[in-house]
Amino acid sequence: MLLRTDRISLRYGDGDTLTYAVRNVTMEVPESGFFGIMGPSGSGKSSLLYLMSGLKQPTEGSVHYRDRCVSDMSNKDLAILRRNEFGFVFQQPFLLNYLSARENVLTAATKQFTADREVDDILAQLSILHLAGRAPAHLSGGEKQRIAVARAMINQPRVIFADEPTAALDRTNGLAVMELLKSYRHKGLVIVVTHDETMLSGADRIYHMDDGKLHHVAQPAA
Ligand SMILES: Nc1ncnc2c1ncn2[C@@H]1O[C@H](COP(=O)(O)OP(=O)(O)OP(=O)(O)O)[C@@H](O)[C@H]1O
Ligand SMILES: [Mg+2]
Repeated sequence: MLLRTDRISLRYGDGDTLTYAVRNVTMEVPESGFFGIMGPSGSGKSSLLYLMSGLKQPTEGSVHYRDRCVSDMSNKDLAILRRNEFGFVFQQPFLLNYLSARENVLTAATKQFTADREVDDILAQLSILHLAGRAPAHLSGGEKQRIAVARAMINQPRVIFADEPTAALDRTNGLAVMELLKSYRHKGLVIVVTHDETMLSGADRIYHMDDGKLHHVAQPAA
């Protein structure tokens, strides 16, 4: 298993304001594949993704990545882990307006001398090389999100975490972005949070969350 959570919870506040965003979740995900997390608003999907990726620390339980306990790592080691091994895609692409699409992808590169050609190889694989020189102001929402996916892939991460990557897009663009994410399933692990089950067709497994609990594992959609 690449990633494992052992009875993790995330608690906010105390006394009257005590809320559990995640309750006692145990799960395991392998080295590669395409996995979905579904559930209603406020059910804890984003919180679970942030715990798995070390962006937040659980208040109870532990997260294990390969043979390392993420919950025991220093902030410095965690930052190195995230930067070298993980890629992130969020609901909004968060591109820098004064950089070209290619330069935006380059901002995430960890190798000191990642050449433009290496960026262009990834853009070509994702069929968006023609957008490389454009400024974000001249890209559509769907195109911007495709650039954000390329940026998440530039370091060939072992895991890509995506939180509602298609929520701000129309259906056609949403499906196109999902195809790019799915194409990574043989190179690494892809975990996608979404409200929309139809975006998860062909997933290896779909986790369902409700009120902080990992409810059951749904059969993959056809
Ligand atoms: N910083 C915070 N302080 C207090 N409560 C929080 C905080 N962040 C999240 N929560 C609560 O934790 C619960 C889970 O939130 P989370 O954002 O993980 O849900 P979600 O499933 O991603 O929802 P959505 O689909 O709307 O994005 C919610 O009840 C939310 O109000
Ligand atoms: Mg969320």
